[in-house]
Amino acid sequence: MGSKERSTVIVGNWKMHKTIDETVEFIKQLMPRIKESTAKIYLAVPFTVISAAADEAKGSNIVIGAQNMNDATEGAFTGEIAGKMVVDAGAKFVILGHSERRRYFNETDEFINRKVKRALADGLEAILCIGETAEEREADETENVLKKQLTTGLEGISKEQAVKVSVAYEPVWAIGTSKIATPEIAQEAHAFIRKMLSEIWDSEIADRIVIQYGGSVKPEYVKELIEKPDIDGFLVGGASLSLESFVAIVNNSV
Ligand code: PGA
Repeated sequence: MGSKERSTVIVGNWKMHKTIDETVEFIKQLMPRIKESTAKIYLAVPFTVISAAADEAKGSNIVIGAQNMNDATEGAFTGEIAGKMVVDAGAKFVILGHSERRRYFNETDEFINRKVKRALADGLEAILCIGETAEEREADETENVLKKQLTTGLEGISKEQAVKVSVAYEPVWAIGTSKIATPEIAQEAHAFIRKMLSEIWDSEIADRIVIQYGGSVKPEYVKELIEKPDIDGFLVGGASLSLESFVAIVNNSV
């Protein structure tokens, strides 16, 4: 445990931000700034810019992905997007179960699990987001919540498929609030998540799974966090929208 043989993965989650022009400009400027980085750099962009982003990032070390998808392959689901459609547009990964999807769009662990299965079947890497609310932490429910979200979210995923999964620990109270988890709190949660992963699969697989921290990540916090044995990278919302702060997060993480 904690050998840190795992890659450092920095994921920018743009949420509902950026047009095609803004995306192309951002990636053009980002590429030369991070081309020497040993970190894996992922951008989870809106559906409408996946194709332009993937074209622009071709041949670079930037990997483009989606922020959500439906669990069906196709059908009468007005407004929804299938995994094979985001693959077709150039996505290599998808974020699933983000707390904003859980909260505003009533996504359940069971629905998220079906999406994880579909994403992997469609050839995407899946980043499963989990995290407790402030009330749950105060009620000492953090571990129960994480355990439920993990075990249901990953139900039926084989050991062979596990290599395509990563987990983002995003305490809901830290997302968009400027209230970042302390390195100790984050490490404690990450170690618990890794222990759960070894129960779901085995310890060898659990040791290979990347666990990112997310929630108010800023350049000045990442050094201390990444030193912790079970923190392997970051899922960055607000600070991924500005080139300077995103580059600083990448540089301070490796
Ligand atoms: P934040 O968002 O960095 O703006 O807190 C993180 C996330 O929601 O993934």
